[in-house]
Amino acid sequence: MLGNFTYSNPTKLHFGKDALNGLNEELPKYGKNVLLVYGGGSIKKNGIYDQVIKILKDNGKNIYEDSGVMPNPTSEKLNEGIERAKAANADLILAVGGGSVCDYAKAVSVSVNAGEDAWDKYFIRFEDVSCDVIPVGCVLTMVGTGSEMNGGSVITNHDQKLKIGHVFGDNVFPKFSILNPEFTYTIPRYQMISGIYDVMSHILEQYFSGTDDNTSDYIMEGLLRSLIHSADIAIENPTDYEARSNIMWIATWALNTLVAKGKTTDWMVHMIGQAIAAHTDATHGMTLSAVSIPYYRRILPYGTAKFARYAVNVWDVDTQGKTDVQIAEEGLREMDTWMRKLGLVMNIRELGVTQSMFDAIIKSTLIMDGGYKVFDENDVRAVLQSAL
Ligand code: NZQ
Ligand code: ZN
Repeated sequence: MLGNFTYSNPTKLHFGKDALNGLNEELPKYGKNVLLVYGGGSIKKNGIYDQVIKILKDNGKNIYEDSGVMPNPTSEKLNEGIERAKAANADLILAVGGGSVCDYAKAVSVSVNAGEDAWDKYFIRFEDVSCDVIPVGCVLTMVGTGSEMNGGSVITNHDQKLKIGHVFGDNVFPKFSILNPEFTYTIPRYQMISGIYDVMSHILEQYFSGTDDNTSDYIMEGLLRSLIHSADIAIENPTDYEARSNIMWIATWALNTLVAKGKTTDWMVHMIGQAIAAHTDATHGMTLSAVSIPYYRRILPYGTAKFARYAVNVWDVDTQGKTDVQIAEEGLREMDTWMRKLGLVMNIRELGVTQSMFDAIIKSTLIMDGGYKVFDENDVRAVLQSAL
């Protein structure tokens, strides 16, 4: 562990089939006015909405609603949410949904009292929060982003063709999150596998960096093995509680800041994926799956030893008589085969990308420098070309 770091995670989790009862423990800590934030209506179909409303009423809360949070929430919707939270004089924002709803709730929470344009302040200028933050709680219904236990908030601006994440500090993390694996049973298959790959990608973004011996890498190998094992079960039987609960727990630990400790991190798959989404509005996990293998093939020569370790420790590649490069390449082949078996999108054409969009997508791609190779425009173009 060569780096200096501070670790703290303020989010309290209630996990399991009875997790929603945890709301009764949390709600009395906040004032009367609750802004209930949710998406396009899945929670009304699967009954989660009614359960949450009952608990809010039992706890004597005034309920205000802000619905219609779309996947890849937009800056326009954020501005609407700020007005709704102000009108409600919200003491608590309760997000009931997936990463989009949870991210949006956090964005609203830091913007209501900001007194200036939230998109410009947080997503263009990346400023810290300097105003009062409305507390956020989360009832998670879709697994993948880790938003339930982190400070991340990703907002899309369609006019500017930008999809940008701001990673806020401890004060913006959800105060509590309710994680009931059964709430995820109704997720459509496309979203379920997209979420599973989002989890894998979060781990790999933090795994493929550095050359020192770091405990975080061992934790990530364990998380990856458990994820692959449980995903194989969940795609055969989506209501297998054991598998779905493991996936939910792995997702939380994949991006709650723990496994990044003592490391630099890469995040270029996410940067390219987000740029693609800014132009296509495609589903988050699929924007990652479509570019991952071309991206990793391109950086493999710069981090061969780590890719070989990944092949052996995660994919059980046999090393007998092989060079590191051969082992590393075999690991990526195993990963590619598994991804196809899961049913992930493996090319950007399927997401609506054409060659004529490359220049614009490259322009929307932020470059990060924590991985094995610092990309330039040509590298991004080469990955897009291989992924087409
Ligand atoms: O809107 P509703 O009707 O609720 O339907 C949603 C939505 O259409 C549906 N859904 C969710 N739970 C369901 C369900 N349908 C049936 N049954 C359920 N139990 O699933 C669809 C997708 O939901 P969404 O919240 O968009 O998915 P996800 O959790 O993947 O969130 C994606 C957003 O999170 C951002 C992404 O960029 C994207 O904007 N991310 C946030 C991160 C963070 N906070 O740290 C990191 C990630 O890398 C990611 O960037
Ligand atoms: Zn992600």
